[in-house]
Amino acid sequence: MPLRDPHSFANLSQGRITHIDFDIQVDFTRKELAIEATYAFDQPIHDAFFLDTRALTIERIYTGERDLAWELDKQDPILGERLHVRKLDSATEMTIELRTAPGSTALQWLTPKQTAGGEHPFLYSQCQSIHARSIFPCQDTPLVRFTYHAKMQVPPPLIGVMAAASLGVEDQTGRRIHSFAMKQPIPSYLFALAAGDLAFKKLGPRTGIYAENETIDAAAWEFAENEQKLKLGEGLFGPYLWERYDAIVMPPSFPYGGMENPRLTFMSTIFIMGDRSWTSIISHELAHSWTGNLVTNASWEHFWLNEGWTVYAEMRITEALEGRDVADLETVIYGKILQEELELFGMQSPITCLKTSLEGIDPDEVFSRIPYYKGFLFIRQLEHAVGRERFDAFTKKYIQTFQFQSLTSEGFVTFLEKELPQAFDHVDVQAWIYAPGLPEGALDLNSSLHDDALDACEQYLQGKPLSKQQITKWRSGQVYAFLLALPERITAEDCAVLDALFEFESQWNCSLRTMFLVLGIRSGYREIMPRVERFVQTFGRGTYLTKIFRNLVAEHWTRPQVRPLFERIRERHHPVVITNLEKMLANANL
Ligand code: BES
Ligand code: ZN
Repeated sequence: MPLRDPHSFANLSQGRITHIDFDIQVDFTRKELAIEATYAFDQPIHDAFFLDTRALTIERIYTGERDLAWELDKQDPILGERLHVRKLDSATEMTIELRTAPGSTALQWLTPKQTAGGEHPFLYSQCQSIHARSIFPCQDTPLVRFTYHAKMQVPPPLIGVMAAASLGVEDQTGRRIHSFAMKQPIPSYLFALAAGDLAFKKLGPRTGIYAENETIDAAAWEFAENEQKLKLGEGLFGPYLWERYDAIVMPPSFPYGGMENPRLTFMSTIFIMGDRSWTSIISHELAHSWTGNLVTNASWEHFWLNEGWTVYAEMRITEALEGRDVADLETVIYGKILQEELELFGMQSPITCLKTSLEGIDPDEVFSRIPYYKGFLFIRQLEHAVGRERFDAFTKKYIQTFQFQSLTSEGFVTFLEKELPQAFDHVDVQAWIYAPGLPEGALDLNSSLHDDALDACEQYLQGKPLSKQQITKWRSGQVYAFLLALPERITAEDCAVLDALFEFESQWNCSLRTMFLVLGIRSGYREIMPRVERFVQTFGRGTYLTKIFRNLVAEHWTRPQVRPLFERIRERHHPVVITNLEKMLANANL
């Protein structure tokens, strides 16, 4: 049976896109990209060709000298509009001229005020999962891979970057033209570009970092270990096939922590902590260079293959660099987060299965940590079943066998049956992948660092105060564990005590700050509201905003403030995050 992706209008029996030549003009005044894209196909296209689009203005489609007839003949609130190009008549290439909409769901156009420098605008794209189609018409499914060349024109002094090899830059009066090539075939969701007043610093022979001038030095210091991580990754997962590994720091409204765009990880500025305490973001996004970018989920129903494997790979890097104790602590925390998420959806909810059925469901709407951490614990069990040595050999073979291909959960099981049949004696593979909730014993995890934090929490709850001394050496995972172990609500006085003890705002990362804000909201700690407001004004990471707003909606005392607060921030953050929050508020009749 041919593979089908419920999130694409593409019909692969018509043929596939294999290469695209882009000419992209970035227009900050109109908040639009003007694009000319020339597509090459893997075979002559007999007659019709279907492409995914969303809110694009198509100006012209032609092949050679011949204009092609087209129409947007299907509309879907999740998938967008199907572009039906007619009578290709065995053409092997075609060109589309188009413009993106100012509200393109793949783009965020930031005003100078929303940047660190405050003087120049900033633009970035975020295509995962199904947003590439709101930049250019494509077979927007991870089943299709293509190479590309791009010319990208930006207004100087801005610099344009893409998740591709840079071929150089040409400065003409009033415009700057960058050239890029992506020689390795990528799925559409890994197409990425950004433009801003950027600086670059070299980190190592194959690694470097882009950021605004204001943050470049801090960023370069924070991520100085990237080259070492890259080598470590090669040792664990096999050759790095993307040549370079650079990263670019995104403004605080970036909707994710990081995004594994090939050769160029996009990551939020929140990870620049000044003490290298939160560089696990790079371990994760770098690991995607193998798990996700080489071996790619066949559709978003198999998302766990990307993220579960990547969290496993991330943890291997953490263990190698920071030791077993730290990896164990992180593992327990991931288990706790998983448990919370499972309870939120309900243990029997089909969305808690690793392999999901997403027909008619927007992947953005069901995004959760379940595929990440349930997937991770599953892979970890497979490792334990056969021992690390054999599992490491399996991992390398897995990546090599499926590199530059798309894989389904079924394809994975078949490979596992062939390569590691013994694993099935110890692990209920079917239950892990196809059953909701969690197999028994899945959360039997131990960490002594975690136990220390739990002991401290117990002590605190019994009325014995904690000293600063006691917590100075704590890792963020331990603070996380401490906060998780507290009752849902504490007294406002206790909130003040903990705040003074931990100094959340100045000492800890945004995830911990979010947890404390949520605790304050639940506990009726009124002093917290100005901080909540400042936080949600500044940071656009979806997981934070969702958590904070969910709690603001749920508590009586904050509920009346939610709609006005949301209206004050809606212009600042990413369209996808804002849409999700809007739905949450509407569901709560707010
Ligand atoms: N690929 C994801 C981000 C993503 C997933 C974007 C689905 C859009 C749709 C990225 O690798 C990721 O997992 N980011 C995490 C980082 C974390 C797990 C370290 C994030 O942003 O929260
Ligand atoms: Zn990821």
